[in-house]
Amino acid sequence: MLALELPRRLGAQRTNVRRAAGTARMTAVDSLLMIPGPTPLSPAVRAALAEPMRSHTSTENAASMRRIADGVRACVGSRSARVYTFAGSGTLAMEAALINHAAPGDRVVVCSHGFFGDRFSEIASAHGMHPATVQAPWGSAVRVSDVERACSESAAPAVLTITHVDTSTGVLADCAGLARIGRDAGAIVVVDGVCATGAVEELMDGWGVDVVLTGAQKALSVAPGLAVLAVSERAQHRRAQLDVHAYYADLQRWDPVVDDPTRYFSTHATGLLRALEVSLDEIAAEGLPARFARHRHVAETLRSGFAELGFESLAGTDVLAPTLSVLSVPSGVDEAALRRGLAERGVVVAGGLGPFAGRAIRVGHMGTVGDAEVSRTLEAASNALSDLT
Ligand SMILES: Cc1ncc(COP(=O)(O)O)c(C=O)c1O
Repeated sequence: MLALELPRRLGAQRTNVRRAAGTARMTAVDSLLMIPGPTPLSPAVRAALAEPMRSHTSTENAASMRRIADGVRACVGSRSARVYTFAGSGTLAMEAALINHAAPGDRVVVCSHGFFGDRFSEIASAHGMHPATVQAPWGSAVRVSDVERACSESAAPAVLTITHVDTSTGVLADCAGLARIGRDAGAIVVVDGVCATGAVEELMDGWGVDVVLTGAQKALSVAPGLAVLAVSERAQHRRAQLDVHAYYADLQRWDPVVDDPTRYFSTHATGLLRALEVSLDEIAAEGLPARFARHRHVAETLRSGFAELGFESLAGTDVLAPTLSVLSVPSGVDEAALRRGLAERGVVVAGGLGPFAGRAIRVGHMGTVGDAEVSRTLEAASNALSDLT
């Protein structure tokens, strides 16, 4: 009896597990990811992630890395930046950008438009640097005159950081203006492009920016797991003058690999690199000006649709980023319940951060997101709202 019952019970369990797994798969497949990263992947990028594994020292992987370097240079607007791409996240790229260009005890001027700007101050402090944070009220951009003052009121900063788009506030920084101040002060200018690169124009050479860093998972439309840095000659020179107390994040240790990607320093994330190569090819095929215009169009369509539903952008109208919207929910609407209602309709958005937590949603619209995804999101929001009001 027992022998017969046991398999039956196990069989039932397995069926339940299979059912649960089936449900989870259905949800993942059917859901539209409208959070501000990771973003939905194109079919070609998904296919690239499913390709057979390659050796990290193969000529195929080396060719991908060279093409990636070209594609990244195009996205950040640099003819000759040195491109480092290694397994990690945007935060690792932020940390590498700081510790390779400033020493403990150095001043770092941080232009912060929110949570991710503040992160630069935290990283600088963690490494014994002295951050001077120029903080904008949430929803506004840092004023160039305040940054000018911060650069001149004490010792000259070794590094000035700019968060191109802060994903907590949806604010787009005036990179050109802020970079000029940093350059004039003799600082290495670092731009965090995690929520911008590949969707918003970046002119690294034209603006005098020394480092643009990003991750793979937002406007570059790849799965999370890659840290990307484009580094100017001036910044490489600064690195050579410093004694960097790091190992994996020491860019000099990666230099032989950048020169010859068949060499080993640490095992490359070969699958992600292949996916990034494919995504950058798609970006090149779309054309950067067309891609930037598409992002602006999608942002405007989504925001005007949400405005009709009673949502208000929390970033000032003059600093709205084309990659995400931070939208206050209509009064009387429970923000968490709204997000649940959207998720039940297959659309996933993020909640507000910091002072915006509990009163705003964050909707990402970058990478592959187009008119169809915007319509689906607005329809789900309209239906979810009707249920709540
Ligand atoms: C602007 C910005 N910078 C840095 C980061 C940190 O990147 P990661 O989460 O990949 O470490 C994020 C993450 O969302 C971001 O939006």
